[in-house]
Amino acid sequence: MTTEAVRKGLLIVFEGTDGTGKSTQVHLLSHYLQDRGYPVIATREPTEGPYGKKIRSLYMHRNAYSREEELELFLADRREHVQQLLDPALAQGRIILCDRYFLSTAAYQGARGFDPEEILRRNRFAPDPDLALLFQAPLDTGLRRITSGRGEQLNDFEQKDSLNQVAAIFASIKRPYIQPIDASGSIEEVHEQVLNHVTPLLPAFSAAQV
Ligand code: TYD
Repeated sequence: MTTEAVRKGLLIVFEGTDGTGKSTQVHLLSHYLQDRGYPVIATREPTEGPYGKKIRSLYMHRNAYSREEELELFLADRREHVQQLLDPALAQGRIILCDRYFLSTAAYQGARGFDPEEILRRNRFAPDPDLALLFQAPLDTGLRRITSGRGEQLNDFEQKDSLNQVAAIFASIKRPYIQPIDASGSIEEVHEQVLNHVTPLLPAFSAAQV
C-alpha cells in the first residue's frame, strides 16, 4: 500500500451482519474518543457519494444488476472513499471509525458466489484496518432488531438464507486485525468489549502524534 509510509492515524472498522448494533457502537465510541480529545471521524460504507447512492437504489432492484456489476459498484464507492477521505485523514493523524469496509464486500458479495479471497485481492487499493471489530449475534436477534426495532422490512441484502451464509463467510476470514465482538449483550456490555480492543491502540496512537 503506497500511503502506508505517511500513515499516522488509526483505521477502526465495524463489520458484521445487519442488525448487530454496529452503528450504535460507532456512535458511542466516537463520543467516547471525542470527549477525551482525540481527532475522530465517523464514516460509513456504502458512502453518501454518487456510487453509494446508486448502491442504495440497488437494495430494491437487486436483480437488475449482475453480481459483477454489484461488486464493481461497491469497489468504486470504496475507491472514492479511500482517495477522498480515508487516506487524507489517516495522513493527518485522525482516528477513523468506519461502519462497514472491505470484509463486508468479501462476506456479502462472497455470498453471491465470488471467492471471498479473490474479493479481498480486488480490495488491495484500500488500506488495511488497524482493527476490524466483527459483530456477531444469533441471526434472529439481528433480524428482530431490524423488523421490530426499526420498523423496517428486510431489504434484498438482508434475506435470511443469504445472511446465514454472510455470517459464515465473515467467521471464516482470518486476518490478524480481526477481533470478534459478542453483540448479543446490552449496548453497555458491547461498548465495554469495544473499548477493551480500542484502548490498547491509543497510547501508540498518542505517541505518533508528538
Ligand atoms: P448498511 O450498513 O445496512 O447501510 P445502511 O443502513 O446505511 O443502509 O449496508 C447496506 C447493505 O449493503 C448491507 O446489507 C450490507 C451491504 N453491503 C454489501 O453487500 N457489500 C459491501 O461492500 C458493503 C459495504 C455493504
